Amino acid sequence: MLRPLEIDDAAAVLRFRGDPAATQYLSHEALSPEENVARILRLVDAAESSGVDWFNFGWAIELRETGEVIGDGRTWNSAEPPAPGKIPADCGSLGHILHPGHHRRGLGREAAGALVSWLFEERGAQTVFAGVYEANLPSRRLLAGLGFRQDRHFTSAQDTTGKNVPSWRYRLDRNPYPIQPRAATEQVAPPD
Ligand SMILES: CC(C)(COP(=O)(O)OP(=O)(O)OC[C@H]1O[C@@H](n2cnc3c(N)ncnc32)[C@H](O)[C@@H]1OP(=O)(O)O)[C@@H](O)C(=O)NCCC(=O)NCCS
Repeated sequence: MLRPLEIDDAAAVLRFRGDPAATQYLSHEALSPEENVARILRLVDAAESSGVDWFNFGWAIELRETGEVIGDGRTWNSAEPPAPGKIPADCGSLGHILHPGHHRRGLGREAAGALVSWLFEERGAQTVFAGVYEANLPSRRLLAGLGFRQDRHFTSAQDTTGKNVPSWRYRLDRNPYPIQPRAATEQVAPPD
């Protein structure tokens, strides 16, 4: 289940955002408790500043049965709304992470599917992008399973996240045969 991320989630989020293995393929290293709180506060602030065109929302991923926060997600088209982002306003990006103790049970796919539905249905997105490091096979399989396709490759020299490794931008179009393909050229960085 998804709900807006809150500062009270910090302890649960640190269990995976503070884990070097879990964050291997994110655009940040394992977070300290202070960095984790600062990141959530930034996201809460960004959610409050989001508007009709430009948005950035953090989500807590809860286990339905227990309410335990086992992951988090983000949907955005601007890093700092209401300022415009680097992709068109009628597009959205998504990223998510699950605690390693809950991998390979279909939960990542379920959570990502819910984020995609939110972008298409609640935000009217025409295209959803996801950035993923080339070596992140679980995430690439998950995206392919949801119907995403490879849109553009970025070499390690083109990487803007500081990790200096190659990545793919994946895309999923609302209309699978867009008349005018979108001209977004920016790397969609793997989620931070
Ligand atoms: C990516 C991530 C969310 C996947 O979550 P998950 O719940 O384990 O994935 P699911 O069980 O829903 O499986 C989705 C697909 O990935 C595949 N997969 C999952 N883990 C895998 C692994 N370790 N190796 C190979 N394939 C794997 C599954 O087989 C499935 O593919 P299929 O539909 O072709 O059978 C999870 O690995 C994670 O949190 N990773 C760390 C953070 C991260 O990389 N986030 C994405 C950044 S772009």
